[in-house]
Amino acid sequence: CSSPGLAQEVQAENVTVAEGGVAEINCRLHQYDGSIVVIQNPSRQTLFFNGTRALKDERFQLVEFTQRQVRIQLSDVRLEDEGGYFCQLYTEDTHHQIATLTVLVPPDNPIVEVKEQAVEGGEVELTCIVPRSRPPASLRWSRDRRELKGVSSQEQLGKVFAVRNAVRFHVERKDHGAIVTCEATNTALRGQRKQTQYQLDVQYSPVARIHPSQSIHREGDTLVLTCAVNGNPRPTKIQWSRANDSLPERARVEGEVLTIPALSLLDNGTYACQAANKHGRASDQYVLVVYDPGAIVEAQTSVPYAIVGGILALLVFLVICVLIVMVWCSIRQKGSYLTHEASGLPSWVGSWPC
Ligand SMILES: *[C@@H]1O[C@H](CO)[C@@H](O)[C@H](O)[C@H]1NC(C)=O
Ligand SMILES: *[C@@H]1O[C@H](CO)[C@@H](O)[C@H](O)[C@H]1NC(C)=O
Ligand SMILES: *[C@@H]1O[C@H](CO)[C@@H](O)[C@H](O)[C@H]1NC(C)=O
Ligand SMILES: *[C@@H]1O[C@H](CO)[C@@H](O)[C@H](O)[C@H]1NC(C)=O
Repeated sequence: CSSPGLAQEVQAENVTVAEGGVAEINCRLHQYDGSIVVIQNPSRQTLFFNGTRALKDERFQLVEFTQRQVRIQLSDVRLEDEGGYFCQLYTEDTHHQIATLTVLVPPDNPIVEVKEQAVEGGEVELTCIVPRSRPPASLRWSRDRRELKGVSSQEQLGKVFAVRNAVRFHVERKDHGAIVTCEATNTALRGQRKQTQYQLDVQYSPVARIHPSQSIHREGDTLVLTCAVNGNPRPTKIQWSRANDSLPERARVEGEVLTIPALSLLDNGTYACQAANKHGRASDQYVLVVYDPGAIVEAQTSVPYAIVGGILALLVFLVICVLIVMVWCSIRQKGSYLTHEASGLPSWVGSWPC
């Protein structure tokens, strides 16, 4: 090599670019005196001969050729473009340097696969997959910002890596609808993250609860009972029945609602609704008591009694407090000229709150 600083020289810089991006290959010139500059690709085909295109590939463009540098751009970079690009300077002693192009593959949003349908009391296994990345993406599972420890594995397919991370955990019905997130990162993303959210689908046996439209039913009223049912899968059919008897003929059933217009005393009885899915069945009962139109019903007033009782207790407590303060003040007033001198305490201590 000739001594630097005096002779002509070329310098190349390594380049790293994400697949599909634009790479800039830069050959810096020192003491350039008009010699021929040749740029070659990794297979040593000449791309540009002293600034003139030699290889017919429009993805390569010459963007600058000055005394100081030759700069070319390669757009839509592919993995096959990787390798050493030669910057050559033809002087008496041919001088060259190599710019190494490295192509990275950023991961796409991960794919989430679930092994089999989750059922309450069982386990769920989720696999997060990134089929292509370079360097291999790191995958991380989380739920409510807490990490879920999984098992990672990777496989190399040519220049790229397929990575996966599997987690297994116990699920209950409360977990149905919860969101878990898989996040992929690699250096090609420059601090960005690619994430996929997965909503847990946990199957569970149904629960049924009857809600009456009113708490007291009198003759002539309309009874409306709603059977609120959940369960996954959601039970499609709700069955209404009456213990030891058939439903009155006037009764109408529309899905989860049972309606009996113009109640009579004969409608007394225990009404039940029932629903099932493949994980179990559920039922609830409602005891209907039909009262005379004029009947005074005690059950309804039990709650107001409790409230009135509470208010009375509070009033009594306040009256007692006022009495104590009054008695205290009258004692203080009678003996004030004695205590003030004797105690040496500031006068407000003795007089407050009188
Ligand atoms: C450029 O990359 C090549 C191959 O990876 C390496 O040998 C060389 O040292 C790098 N040069 C610089 C200046 O980093
Ligand atoms: C090479 O190209 C440069 C810049 O266009 C020019 O100045 C120089 O004369 C050329 N050299 C030869 C030998 O043609
Ligand atoms: C239904 O009949 C059974 C016996 O046949 C009896 O034990 C039960 O108490 C009855 N239930 C109602 C709600 O009348
Ligand atoms: C229905 O229940 C009410 C309240 O217990 C009672 O007064 C009435 O006699 C009952 N009617 C029938 C038909 O059992």
